Amino acid sequence: MEVFLKLTGLLLGTLLSDWLTAVLSRDFTLADIQQLHVSATPHPRGFKCFTCEDAEDNYSCNRWAPDQYCPKETRFCYTRHWMNADGESVSVTKRCVSPDECVSTGCVQHRAHMVCTSCCEGNICNLPVPWNKTAAIFSTISPLNRVNRVSPGKISALCIIIIIIFFFMLNNFS
Ligand SMILES: *[C@@H]1O[C@H](CO)[C@@H](O)[C@H](O)[C@H]1NC(C)=O
Ligand SMILES: *[C@@H]1O[C@H](CO)[C@@H](O)[C@H](O)[C@H]1NC(C)=O
Repeated sequence: MEVFLKLTGLLLGTLLSDWLTAVLSRDFTLADIQQLHVSATPHPRGFKCFTCEDAEDNYSCNRWAPDQYCPKETRFCYTRHWMNADGESVSVTKRCVSPDECVSTGCVQHRAHMVCTSCCEGNICNLPVPWNKTAAIFSTISPLNRVNRVSPGKISALCIIIIIIFFFMLNNFS
């Protein structure tokens, strides 16, 4: 019986330490508070992008303000801008995309046309269109591979303390 209780205590301790790792892995920020207002966004980090398919120019594309949140699996706003030989807009496409659609930002020449693509992170950040390679970039607010870590030492110490407390409690109650 006692062994069973101790094993349970150990398991609970492990679970608790996992939970603590998740909770302690970063500071509570304003963004977290905003995320708690689930009514404000349909899912955490909800955002909108200007969205249009093959619009005539930047203005025609932006005329319709975005009123829908981007799908959960997307993370950036994308813009593709075709220009003719005179450097005038021919086609503008804007949408919500996942990171893999942002790997080829920049400008390329397609016969007489120049096509520039850009990606950005943030709510309706794709307002402008890229006209040259200076603007045809992938701009993110946060690092792409963000790792939130606390020193493993602290976590281990906490786990040990929790396990000790558990054993202490179990021994007192059994
Ligand atoms: C695109 O259109 C918006 C207005 O809808 C304007 O504020 C912005 O400056 C334009 N950007 C470019 C690069 O044309
Ligand atoms: C790129 O375009 C912006 C405005 O659209 C302009 O200010 C800038 O000088 C251009 N850069 C180059 C390298 O042509």
